[in-house]
Amino acid sequence: MQTVTIKTTTKEYDVVIGSGLLAQCGERIFSVLGKCRLAVITDSNVEKHHLKTVMSSLEKAGMDCKSYTFPAGEEHKNMGTLSDILEFLAKERFSRADAVVALGGGVTGDMAGFAAAVYLRGIRYVQLPTSLLACVDSSVGGKTAIDLAGGKNLAGAFLQPELVLCDVDALKTLPQEEFTNGLCEAIKYGVLFDEELFCDFENLTETSLISLIERCITHKGRVVANDEFEKGERKFLNLGHTIGHAVEKCSHYQIKHGYAVAIGLSMIARAGEKLGITEKGTAERIELLFKKHNLPTDTVFSTEELLNVALSDKKRDSDSITLVVPKKIGACILQTEPIENLKKYIALGGEKDGI
Ligand SMILES: NC(=O)c1ccc[n+]([C@@H]2O[C@H](COP(=O)([O-])OP(=O)(O)OC[C@H]3O[C@@H](n4cnc5c(N)ncnc54)[C@H](O)[C@@H]3O)[C@@H](O)[C@H]2O)c1
Ligand SMILES: [Zn+2]
Repeated sequence: MQTVTIKTTTKEYDVVIGSGLLAQCGERIFSVLGKCRLAVITDSNVEKHHLKTVMSSLEKAGMDCKSYTFPAGEEHKNMGTLSDILEFLAKERFSRADAVVALGGGVTGDMAGFAAAVYLRGIRYVQLPTSLLACVDSSVGGKTAIDLAGGKNLAGAFLQPELVLCDVDALKTLPQEEFTNGLCEAIKYGVLFDEELFCDFENLTETSLISLIERCITHKGRVVANDEFEKGERKFLNLGHTIGHAVEKCSHYQIKHGYAVAIGLSMIARAGEKLGITEKGTAERIELLFKKHNLPTDTVFSTEELLNVALSDKKRDSDSITLVVPKKIGACILQTEPIENLKKYIALGGEKDGI
């Protein structure tokens, strides 16, 4: 069992990583929140595998709990589902002394967290992440959101959880493709901050997983503590995301986020090398690790297609763009460039020769 304490200006909370945590969640949540009522929010896939374990642990700890299940999938991370969750909380008469428990992947965490942030102008919540992506990324840091017709994550709030319990056993029911999806975000911390962590992903085993997740969360926690509201350092976490988002959108979301970020990260490393920012050999090391884990490193979309989408993503009032570029494995820089230079990065990143 490993614990990382996240210290933000608004809250200090523990992220516990280990085995069997869902079965012990009742006593652990009770010791942090005290006696209160709990609304467990989950999706239709996670419900099947893990809801019973969580509900019986909460009941055993003497907590009064009710559950609400929404249909799984990003397409349900919207105003309609949020509204349903809020109506559920109201119908069940949850009060400000009570709390929400988000049991699921990033979609559940984002939406249940947002519901907690706005219900009665804010109640407490706990994260029980069940996808690798949620463990290493979305469950820590306090960003909550839903998607609007106008784009992803456009409505949300900052609200830090009271406790995060990452049960690695829950990941055993996660489809392999979803595990791989989360792996890219985990490897990203290695490229950003930690060469040793990067190397350890070359020998990923079931037993090394707890320690790897703990090290990823430690990095995320440090960044969040320094920049809770995303004004500076948190931008580093966007490594691979500018081009990655463009790939995701060009594919009409047929390419999953983590897979698209793997392409974006490979491309920015290749471009960085050609521009003399990135140490030679870095892109190849990144590509080899991604390939080892069945993550893609290039795309069929043209520079023009990716550029158009990336530019339409940008705020119109800005004529510059900040890219996260690796200097080497374990160290990256924020590179602010005039917007017209983005094309150069995409074009150079798309070329696979000469590496
Ligand atoms: N708040 C943040 O800081 C932050 C950061 C990164 C991503 N996100 C958000 O996270 C979301 C992506 O997260 P995700 O990839 O976890 O998506 P997800 O929650 O949709 O989970 C992916 C799929 O796996 C299923 N699943 C989850 N856990 C399972 C388990 N243990 N067993 C079986 N099936 C399981 C889900 O039902 C779903 O079908 C996006 O909406 C993204 O915007 C938020
Ligand atoms: Zn991401």
